[in-house]
Amino acid sequence: MQLTHRPRRLRRNPSIRSLVREATLSVDDFIYPMFVMEGENNRVEIPSMPEAYRFTLDLLVQEVTEIYALGIKAIALFPAVPEEKKDLTGSESFNPEGLAQQAVRAVKAAVPDMIIFTDVALDPFTTHGHDGIIDDNGVILNDETVEVLVKMAVSQAAAGTDFVSPSDMMDGRIGAIRQGLDANGFENVGILAYSAKYASAYYGPFRDALGSAPKSGDKKTYQMDPANSREAIKEVYLDIAEGADIVMVKPALAYLDIIAKIKDATNVPIAAYNVSGEYAMVKAAAQLGWIDEKKVMFETLLSMKRAGADIILSYHAKAVAQLLASGYRC
Ligand code: PBG
Repeated sequence: MQLTHRPRRLRRNPSIRSLVREATLSVDDFIYPMFVMEGENNRVEIPSMPEAYRFTLDLLVQEVTEIYALGIKAIALFPAVPEEKKDLTGSESFNPEGLAQQAVRAVKAAVPDMIIFTDVALDPFTTHGHDGIIDDNGVILNDETVEVLVKMAVSQAAAGTDFVSPSDMMDGRIGAIRQGLDANGFENVGILAYSAKYASAYYGPFRDALGSAPKSGDKKTYQMDPANSREAIKEVYLDIAEGADIVMVKPALAYLDIIAKIKDATNVPIAAYNVSGEYAMVKAAAQLGWIDEKKVMFETLLSMKRAGADIILSYHAKAVAQLLASGYRC
């Protein structure tokens, strides 16, 4: 054949392939989500998330020290709040001695350079499991909820968090939180906005981990419809205008098109949340011997970088860091 272009020339061997590779994965790309619980000297594996644990504060600090040595420089903290501390309005969320606030202080004391992202949403703190305050008919009250979210963000900032991460999808919360942080002298605390957060069934294992599943109804009046993409751009534009430093798409794998569209439409860093259900599917298929876990894990995470993500939140982060440190080439 007389072919001017033979694309296979650029695939001939690993050295050429590495020269023309467009996307890469590095330990620098990751934020490691971690679950915290009350108590001492204990960790509990989450049944639907093999090798992910809820840690008591002392063991959390140990684990953070270990992952920092592996090169992971950022974590996202999620507290598992005991039922008796939950109420209708999530008031435990802004307790200065709350579990998240204590965890921030403990991690910062032990590993000051670890960057901490704290979740801002009411669902782990409300008896009904919704991300907002509800009225007698179960309607989520937006503006009343935002007032509590601001208190929560400010209390996390006071504890020493680096970034607050509103994951609640109330309208106007980014601007209100930015103002609240600035008014309290926390102008250097950043905001990672869960901007395009979909009403997804992929969050199931996470809700098991925190016992935070809604007791009734679903989250479709605040989280986005999986059928929509233009709405994601609108949410991102609003959040950037209100002061978001980083925007996020969540889940990641079923929403790679959204990541790509936001990449084209904005100039802020984009985070992708490789959520609990995505993690659980890989782990389950690997346990059954149906897929090659390492290869599928790297291919999945690489697809998020290729789509345009700058940052990936993933429960795989520690395994990735260990494999890369041991010289594994993905
Ligand atoms: C809380 C929150 C959720 C997740 C992150 N923050 C659950 C939800 O919105 O129901 C899900 C993360 C995951 O599935 O890994 N608002």
